[in-house]
Amino acid sequence: MKIAVLPGDGIGTEIVDEAVKVLEVLDLKVELEFADVGGMAYDKHGHPLPEATLKLAKEADAILFGAVGDWKYDKLERQFRPEQAILGLRRNLGLFANFRPAICYEQLTHASSLKPELVAGLDILIIRELTGDIYFGQPRGRRAAPDGAFQGAEEAFDTMRYARPEIERIAHVAFQAARKRNRKVTSVDKANVLETFQFWKDVVTEVGQQYADVKLDHMYVDNAAMQLVKSPKSFDVVVTGNMFGDILSDEAAMLTGSIGMLPSASLNAANQGLYEPSHGSAPDIAGKGVANPLATILSAAMMLRFSLNQPAAADRIESAVKDVLSQGLRTADIWSEGTRKVGTREMGDAVVAAITTK
Ligand code: NAI
Ligand code: MG
Repeated sequence: MKIAVLPGDGIGTEIVDEAVKVLEVLDLKVELEFADVGGMAYDKHGHPLPEATLKLAKEADAILFGAVGDWKYDKLERQFRPEQAILGLRRNLGLFANFRPAICYEQLTHASSLKPELVAGLDILIIRELTGDIYFGQPRGRRAAPDGAFQGAEEAFDTMRYARPEIERIAHVAFQAARKRNRKVTSVDKANVLETFQFWKDVVTEVGQQYADVKLDHMYVDNAAMQLVKSPKSFDVVVTGNMFGDILSDEAAMLTGSIGMLPSASLNAANQGLYEPSHGSAPDIAGKGVANPLATILSAAMMLRFSLNQPAAADRIESAVKDVLSQGLRTADIWSEGTRKVGTREMGDAVVAAITTK
């Protein structure tokens, strides 16, 4: 099996180094192949997603991605910006299902934006549809308003749309994920106002009939936003469209403390996936050796579980992360009084040590 490793920009290289160390100590039968992506790839090859990188990504079983982006590329034309590399990978590999677990580690309960009792033991999974919805629907643009009170005035418009197969496949992904967890799916929509999301609700309900062992409920997105901060533990798997998922997954991220702890996965129909921390390239702390590598290390664990079919190895990584937190080791973003502040490399070394001593 082959993993494409794309460290990218900013803290990307620092955090991916640590995840690679962890993968290597597990002594798995996998080959790691590195390639350039993002701003550094633009500097070297004139494109943020060079042909060779895309080719490697396509033939690999999984992609371990660091982060891309830096302010210095802000003035480039859109197609050359580092962030285009992620969109290009999503599009070319058909990565339509975005998994964002929100887990609040017992040792970090105080770092959450919420009261400790609301988040202690929190373990929910948000599944966001990633390639459809109003973000990609056509037509879109600007024009003179065709009718109504503002007729003739300049207006802008986007199109919200979902095709039945798009909803069906993300619903299957959600029900199957729920079977590996607590067998509960909450589908989030705005069916009371939007035709697109009445359709979404109908199709998810139909698919749900094939999963009689999984409990399905439906919630309007405004209520879901409220329930996520009122009683986050009442959810298990949440499935929703691209835009609602974008917003709710960032909201859920803040329940858990630091963005430096949050892994993510984007999967296609063949279970090939791109695994990356939920955060960006953090140019403000890049090169200082202080970034938290745990989101990337936990992304590697997700990769072993979802794309490489090595759940035991994934368990070993996740339990090693809990061990180092229990030992009181903290990078600056999760540090608090009474714990020991460590750098990126020390944190990675501690995870490796926790794996090898078991
Ligand atoms: P960011 O996630 O890079 O940083 C936000 C804040 O969180 C910063 O203060 C940063 O220091 C901190 N932070 C992030 N990761 C951390 C870690 N592992 N350990 C400790 N602290 C951490 O988001 P920002 O600043 O909005 O964007 C920076 C660049 O990253 C931009 O060019 C943006 O486009 C890009 N970006 C790339 C993503 C990707 O590669 N998937 C996703 C999000 C942003
Ligand atoms: Mg977002």
